[in-house]
Amino acid sequence: MTLAAPALVSDADLFSEEALTDPYPQYKMLRDLGPAAYLSRHDLWFVSRYDQVRAALGDWETFSSAQGIGLNDGFNQAWSSALIHMDPPEQTEQRRLFTERLSPRALRPVAEDIDRRARGLVELLLERGSFDAVTDLAQDLPVHVIMDLIGWPQEGRDQLLDMAAGWFDSAGPDVPRTAASVPKVQALMAYLAEVVAKENLMPGGFGWTLLEAHRRGEIPVEGAIGLLAGYVVAAFDTTIAALSSGVWLFARHPEQWDALRADPALVPSALNEIVRMESPIQVFSRVTTREVDLGEGVLIPAGARVLHSYGSANRDERHFPDPDRFDVGRAPADHLGFGFGKHACAGQGLARLEAHAVLKALSERVERIEPAGEPVRALNNITRGFASLPVRVR
Ligand code: HEM
Repeated sequence: MTLAAPALVSDADLFSEEALTDPYPQYKMLRDLGPAAYLSRHDLWFVSRYDQVRAALGDWETFSSAQGIGLNDGFNQAWSSALIHMDPPEQTEQRRLFTERLSPRALRPVAEDIDRRARGLVELLLERGSFDAVTDLAQDLPVHVIMDLIGWPQEGRDQLLDMAAGWFDSAGPDVPRTAASVPKVQALMAYLAEVVAKENLMPGGFGWTLLEAHRRGEIPVEGAIGLLAGYVVAAFDTTIAALSSGVWLFARHPEQWDALRADPALVPSALNEIVRMESPIQVFSRVTTREVDLGEGVLIPAGARVLHSYGSANRDERHFPDPDRFDVGRAPADHLGFGFGKHACAGQGLARLEAHAVLKALSERVERIEPAGEPVRALNNITRGFASLPVRVR
């Protein structure tokens, strides 16, 4: 690949175990280097600063998703009919299927159920005193509420958790972690294909809408599988990561918990701050359709695969003052953790409903959240979250 200036080449490895455990020092180094850097180890460009990430996400004609948003060809080809791998106008048309079912109006009837389930769960966990915030708390609503909304059969829901994490890993670059995830993704594809073929989804659910569109001839079978994957994959790990990162942050910052308890109106701002601080999706990519001048002498050639980091943009000191400080009063509504532009998260309304319900229920009943053991990170090429997070509440 022809490069602009040698100073903007970096041999940083963003996918090592160390980097996935704590990516922030390398993000800062790359932001300070320039608005984008060429990562020589992975043959990828990396856009790290808030302004440039937001501009790239807002310009789909230059930063196209149509060649996939993953970092290897196998992934991008296998999921070419997923919504996230399309550009408008095709993407706009298919996205309608999601947004109809996930609009605030469409979700109104389930909001009460979500609140009730969150409150019941918190009561149960308070009685127990200590628990794992990932398996006992964060997974509950996504596994039960979201899967019910999709109309997913009861059997196989737990299995999906592991398969969905595999999907995100399989989007990584050519590293052993990516290769290791392939069997999980094959199992996911086979499972989704089987569910579509058997029409094994509950009538009335989100998934059923996709089956009906397929039956009417509006989408081919691969399209139905790809769109279904959009629900189950996108809805699981991301929401679970946001909820567990929230618990982790509050356990480490009791004064922020006190602030939230004192003013429950801060719940939406607190969720935005959690997603800003610990963006559940850290990176995805696009391919440039023309040469792009990002300023400061950085020219990205046409046809380059460009990684944009939601995680790094959300910690950019050029945009967020004192970005490493967790502050529930910050109200960072313009963070990029749910994406931006045409592909901005289609399920954020639902994710917010769930996370607000859990934060509200916890803040009403729990005075303190304390660590009760070493957290274990769920290392993943794309997502950032925990495998286990022991906590104590009172
Ligand atoms: C805290 C939870 C969540 C986070 C942080 C999150 C984050 C994101 C991000 C960053 C994107 C943008 C991808 C891009 O730029 O290419 C995205 C897209 C998407 N998300 Fe979410 N998401 C969450 C929850 C959900 C849920 C619950 C659903 C479904 C019920 C969902 C469905 C989708 C879909 C379908 C897309 C693709 C939209 C498109 O390509 O037009 N997400 N999400």
